[in-house]
Amino acid sequence: MISLAGKTVVVTGAGGGIGRDFALAMAAAGANVVVNDIGTSVKGEGSDAGPAAAVCREITRSGGKAVPNTDSVAQWESANRIVQCAVDSFGRIDVVINNAGILRDRFFFNLSPEDWRAVIDVHLNGSFYVARAAAPHFKSQESGCYIHMTSTSGLVGNLGQANYSAAKLGITALSKSIALDMARYKVRSNCISPFAWSRMIGSIPTETPDQQARVEKLKSMETAKIAPLAVFLASDLASDISGQIFAVRANEIFLMSQSRPLRSVHRAEGWTPASIASQAIPALRAHFYALDRSQDVFSWDPI
Ligand code: NAI
Repeated sequence: MISLAGKTVVVTGAGGGIGRDFALAMAAAGANVVVNDIGTSVKGEGSDAGPAAAVCREITRSGGKAVPNTDSVAQWESANRIVQCAVDSFGRIDVVINNAGILRDRFFFNLSPEDWRAVIDVHLNGSFYVARAAAPHFKSQESGCYIHMTSTSGLVGNLGQANYSAAKLGITALSKSIALDMARYKVRSNCISPFAWSRMIGSIPTETPDQQARVEKLKSMETAKIAPLAVFLASDLASDISGQIFAVRANEIFLMSQSRPLRSVHRAEGWTPASIASQAIPALRAHFYALDRSQDVFSWDPI
């Protein structure tokens, strides 16, 4: 069994869903855990200290060490308090899991600046704030591990999620940048793109028998199935793994691609709009990507 004994892990959004299972699994592996959660709705409305406290009780009842924290990831000062809570409670911080999240789904033509900002603030800005707050500790101790939650809504695409997709793909670039900038201090940064049956995707309609059958299959994507990869990445066994994007769906683990040139054309005399139309585009078109959504790419049932 992999041990995280002596390590302190901050899990944001750990009051429910995937984050709760991260917190339970990290504690079961021996880590001290800061269970951060503002206890808000899927849309990010309201707050409740109950969920973070309840997860802490679960952990301490089974002999683990955890403290609750109800500061929001979405502001710089409060994000700093989350990291400070780890240092004050356990004397150090070793792992940051940027997991907190909300959704404000709208088709792009209806998306308000407020719904754009709210989602960017929690996902992209929140991931930056918490990661940046931990960076001086990681730098001075010359160790540290970041795990950020991304999504195939950003990596591939999805309808009605421009704010969320932009934030989630932005997080992969943030992770890669941290991996590059902090490699010299032995700090690692990786992303996990989960598929899990949580309240976030629990609103799918189940009116027809087909929809009911589909939802039953989706329920096999248990939130607890994401945690083993996170525990591994947090451990010293993953000390040479950084800058990667993994996906987890029930019993499947994927290594996701990262963008590289796919095909090129060149002309010694340069291009004109007309020669681009007549030569470059016909040569490149066969390699264009379809307007795929996540479900077009992950088109088989969870295993
Ligand atoms: P969830 O809605 O069950 O959990 C998210 C938690 O974040 C909630 O407990 C909420 O109170 C907390 N939270 C929201 N705003 C916060 C803030 N400002 N500060 C601190 N905590 C805050 O959702 P789920 O499904 O467990 O998602 C966890 C992560 O995984 C999210 O980043 C989500 O985008 C990502 N994800 C989930 C997928 C899925 O299939 N469930 C698919 C792709 C990505």
